[in-house]
Amino acid sequence: MSHDVIIVGSGAAGLTAALALAEQVKVLVLAKGAIDGGSTAWAQGGIAAVLDAGDTFENHIRDTMVAGAGLNRRETVEFVIEQAPHAIDRLVELGVPFNTEGKDLHLTREGGHSHRRIVHVDDATGRAVLDALLRAAEAHPNVTLLPHQACIDLITGRHEERYSGSGRVWGVYALNEQTGKVEAHTARATILATGGAGRVYQFSTAPRGATGDGIAMAWRAGCRVGNMEMMQFHPTCLYNLDVKNFLITEAVRGEGGHLLNPRTGHRYMPDYDERAELAPRDIVARANDSEIKRDGLDYVHLDISHQPADFVKHHFPTIYEKLLGLGIDMTKQPIPVVPAQHYTCGGIVVDLHGRTDLPGLYAAGECTESGLHGANRLASNSLLECFVFGEAAAADILARWDSFDPAPPVRAWDESRVTDSDEEVIIQQNWTEIRRFMWNYVGIVRTTSGWNAPRTGSSC
Ligand code: FAD
Ligand code: SIN
Repeated sequence: MSHDVIIVGSGAAGLTAALALAEQVKVLVLAKGAIDGGSTAWAQGGIAAVLDAGDTFENHIRDTMVAGAGLNRRETVEFVIEQAPHAIDRLVELGVPFNTEGKDLHLTREGGHSHRRIVHVDDATGRAVLDALLRAAEAHPNVTLLPHQACIDLITGRHEERYSGSGRVWGVYALNEQTGKVEAHTARATILATGGAGRVYQFSTAPRGATGDGIAMAWRAGCRVGNMEMMQFHPTCLYNLDVKNFLITEAVRGEGGHLLNPRTGHRYMPDYDERAELAPRDIVARANDSEIKRDGLDYVHLDISHQPADFVKHHFPTIYEKLLGLGIDMTKQPIPVVPAQHYTCGGIVVDLHGRTDLPGLYAAGECTESGLHGANRLASNSLLECFVFGEAAAADILARWDSFDPAPPVRAWDESRVTDSDEEVIIQQNWTEIRRFMWNYVGIVRTTSGWNAPRTGSSC
């Protein structure tokens, strides 16, 4: 099956690229599992952009670099942050119903930001953004969305019928999850937008499919991968034995929430950092981890019950309802929370056009290392990066379209030595081992002995 451009991934990055490309060429978007199965639909807090007259690009750039411990690439930071107002305008055009205050967009605040600059749709921004992008993609005659296709490898020169040693990428081999067959999809250009790798950790806020597939495929094909050691941990994932992966947005702290030691009731963040609950999230996650380990706790408390009940319900309707269903009234009582893996700061190395090291291969979004995040991503800069790099990759492909040859004939997937696994339990066992290993040895705090200290019973 031959196409103009293949995009692997139907989250914010993949769909943004698809819509920009579809103005001129035909695009196939592949997704593992359901079309809305990535992290984008789960995003809560919002999207960072300088929109307030009292704020400046320089402030946002500085906050991003401070959060990233200066390991960011400044030119990328400038590029993304200066594009942010345009990205928000585009989303408004697509019909994303951002919260407003009078004529302006309402701006909330999150850790590490020196100003209010997060646009949002209540506390479920990602769902609203993804719905708008999907509506536009489904309506576009040049976009084909194909869910339930698990891409397993890139097609390169060595897969051409007439073997070539070139690293030129010509598309992907994908397991059709409905037929069980691996199919070759070729294209003039390929974009990886496969999201992060959070699910290699025992406790993560990310959805099931976040297993780093695109990063692995790119690396196997010869791309550089950078900063994979820079894993971000979110400080406040709900602690509940029945509910997995439920994030309590950082905006709860942005709107006045306090972190309390459940044993003493002490508000401890001012002891760790002068920015208290609004310090960048690596600092808050380590503080929570430290309180939990020092006192042998299962969780710490996030408390916003001192704010008026209507204010809480108005700002956090999704979280309020979810918690109420679990017997927690956040307008009256604190929320038990624990840190959990949240974001993969590293990934496939890309330039400002989303180009990888291999001709014909681009990447955008959480699967990349663009230079924006450095050691630790600033809250709400991730969706922004998806929009900016999705558009940048599409623009570069269109600008260079005449230099992209149609794909040559390629070999079918060779399954002659494949056997059916009749013991799924072994794969489950491997997953369990990897996840425990990553949590214990590549976790929030890494020491020379490597041990992150076990946490049992948590739900994230
Ligand atoms: P995703 O949206 O994760 O999409 C990945 C796509 O790739 C999916 O369609 C998936 O099916 C597909 N895919 C993966 N592997 C394969 C494969 N092998 N074959 C085929 N398809 C494949 N960021 C913010 O900026 N603001 C927020 O408020 C915010 N809140 C968050 C809340 C939560 C709970 C989480 C988990 C993350 C949050 N983030 C937030 C981070 C942000 O949501 C993600 O970084 C961003 O959505 C990633 O978008 P993406 O397009 O790169 O990938
Ligand atoms: C959150 O809402 O706390 C998540 C924001 C983000 O990951 O940027």
